[in-house]
Amino acid sequence: MTSNAASAVSQPGGGGAGVPRHVAIIMDGNGRWAKARGLPRVAGHRQGAEAARAVLRAAGEAGVECLTLYAFSSENWRRPETEINDLMGLLRLYISAELNALHREGIRIRILGDHRAFPPDVAKLVDAAVAKTAGNSRMTLAIALNYGSRAELVHAAQKLAARVSAGEIEPERIDEAMLDASLYTSDLPPLDLLIRTSGERRLSNFLLWQSAYAELLFVDTLWPDFGGDELRAALADFASRERRYGGR
Ligand code: IPE
Ligand code: IPE
Ligand code: MG
Repeated sequence: MTSNAASAVSQPGGGGAGVPRHVAIIMDGNGRWAKARGLPRVAGHRQGAEAARAVLRAAGEAGVECLTLYAFSSENWRRPETEINDLMGLLRLYISAELNALHREGIRIRILGDHRAFPPDVAKLVDAAVAKTAGNSRMTLAIALNYGSRAELVHAAQKLAARVSAGEIEPERIDEAMLDASLYTSDLPPLDLLIRTSGERRLSNFLLWQSAYAELLFVDTLWPDFGGDELRAALADFASRERRYGGR
């Protein structure tokens, strides 16, 4: 392995395949799942929360170190207020119902994004969940809340600029590793596998920097129908891939 700046940043787990250390999922298709059943969208989100539970369990059993779930994007504020309220309600419910079990299982909860824009009681619940599980080390569950990758990069640029103007660093010294360390994901393993459900083939402002050399997997399954079996199939697909990082 060379030691240039590019390789200092994201050199995820090992030669080709194996078990990904870090899997991220764009959990998409809840609305279409509900619509196909003549149900309100919130029913799809509710079933989506069940899917998250099952996938987290399967990821832990498979030895994945970190699972990142895109739960609410910074663009999702464009949705009707009623749907946003439903999503906040589910977040409340999910955290209250799951926190003790997650803690018992040694899962550390991390948040990517700015959840302070959420209703104060939800933000407080989230903070309490992060604080309670901070010392856990068996697995990390990172939840992207009010997350946007471009905003994350802007925020990183501001942090570095502030250090420059405080005289701490020279602009020329800013490198990929420093920018990487200024992102919300700084303490997570490099992203190995990014999955999007529901047949959409776009990133929707998710982990743009982090996915530079991640393996991408787009599946047609709607998120509420995704479960342990689907995750295991995704891990098998990943295991069959050859990662090159520009080498040969
Ligand atoms: C994903 O499902 C959940 C969130 C974005 C919160 P959608 O609600 O986007 O479902 P579709 O894409 O409309 O089917
Ligand atoms: C991406 O899904 C965001 C989450 C899954 C939380 P969207 O449904 O919001 O993305 P677009 O609008 O189809 O790009
Ligand atoms: Mg969608």
